[in-house]
Amino acid sequence: MTISYHRPTKAVIDLNAIQQNVEQEKRRHDDKEIFAVVKADGYGHGAVPIAKAALAAGAKGFCTATLDEALELRHNGLTQPILILGIIAAADAPLAAAYNLSVPVVEISWLKEAANYLTDTSLMLRIHIKADTGMGRIGFLSTTEINQAVEIIEDKEYFYWEGIFTHFSTADQADVQYFQAQSQCFNDILQALPYKPKYIHTANSATAMWHEDVGNMVRLGVAMYGLNPSGTALEPTYPLQPALSLVSEIAQTKKLPKGYGIGYGKTYETKEEEWIATIPIGYADGYTRDMQGFHVLINGESCEVVGRVCMDQIMVRLPREIVAGTKVTLVGKNGTKEITLQDIAAYKGTNNYEVACLISGRVPREYVGKGRCL
Ligand SMILES: Cc1ncc(COP(=O)(O)O)c(C=O)c1O
Repeated sequence: MTISYHRPTKAVIDLNAIQQNVEQEKRRHDDKEIFAVVKADGYGHGAVPIAKAALAAGAKGFCTATLDEALELRHNGLTQPILILGIIAAADAPLAAAYNLSVPVVEISWLKEAANYLTDTSLMLRIHIKADTGMGRIGFLSTTEINQAVEIIEDKEYFYWEGIFTHFSTADQADVQYFQAQSQCFNDILQALPYKPKYIHTANSATAMWHEDVGNMVRLGVAMYGLNPSGTALEPTYPLQPALSLVSEIAQTKKLPKGYGIGYGKTYETKEEEWIATIPIGYADGYTRDMQGFHVLINGESCEVVGRVCMDQIMVRLPREIVAGTKVTLVGKNGTKEITLQDIAAYKGTNNYEVACLISGRVPREYVGKGRCL
């Protein structure tokens, strides 16, 4: 993807906000290690700068979804522990071991297959056993199998049992019943283990924010980016600082006569003589077609997105003539008003995670507030 630097559209990421969010979490749980979750290019914020900022704020390691994401961190000089959260191919076990990456194991057969590839005796693979306690995603279902996995790991010098973990599916909800059932299931698994590995972890942002858990490590994702893990359902237990804003500038302003069609399909027609501005952002940037009818902020005022969102441009209705080059805020503060990623999520009927991840690779990321870390 070519990054479009020669265009005023950009995502501005405040690294001080990232650091404040990490520090808040650290203050709340000073007995746990924070692993900054930087998968999906740091939830669209940029994995490497976020990882470095989190590190400077006290994070001890990182989580990625894929092997390639972990390698990106290593290639950028990050030497701290990295746990890959998704299953990797057994054939890639030597690569993970060579880069000192930790991987989840969710099936006995994977261990046996990986053993065939770990022929270089100088390599050692760090393993976190993943238990499925009710998420219905990856993970062992039975305690017996988990203990069998431990035995196999213990038996081979090229495996190192580093951790055991699970993931809660309802930690961001007010009703705690299912959360408690998952917790109980995980506690039972822990009780049945022959001994405890270095890391025991269950906490994502929501668990860390609203629950007690048995773990000694937090996999801190969305809250690090300053976003409420529950959307709006629960109040955060500490003030979150959103790190990302999305800005552009008016490319052209025109006075259009009454009855003039705007955009593909002519889904909007001027109701009177109207000032219409074109902004250089569209669905190829992650500003999706369902944003028609939402608004942007210009000079502290809300301006409606009129007509269909195009691939590279949107049109907005202005309250009066506002000249080309004027700043447009799609996410963030402008005057006394603010548009949050959550506002967009609510409008689109999704969560703030998805909106952040949608901002495409074409949009440059500009980092501010990097004084303390880079
Ligand atoms: C296994 C696992 N742990 C931790 C996280 C981080 O979650 P959050 O962003 O809600 O903190 C995720 C994210 O989806 C995950 O899949």
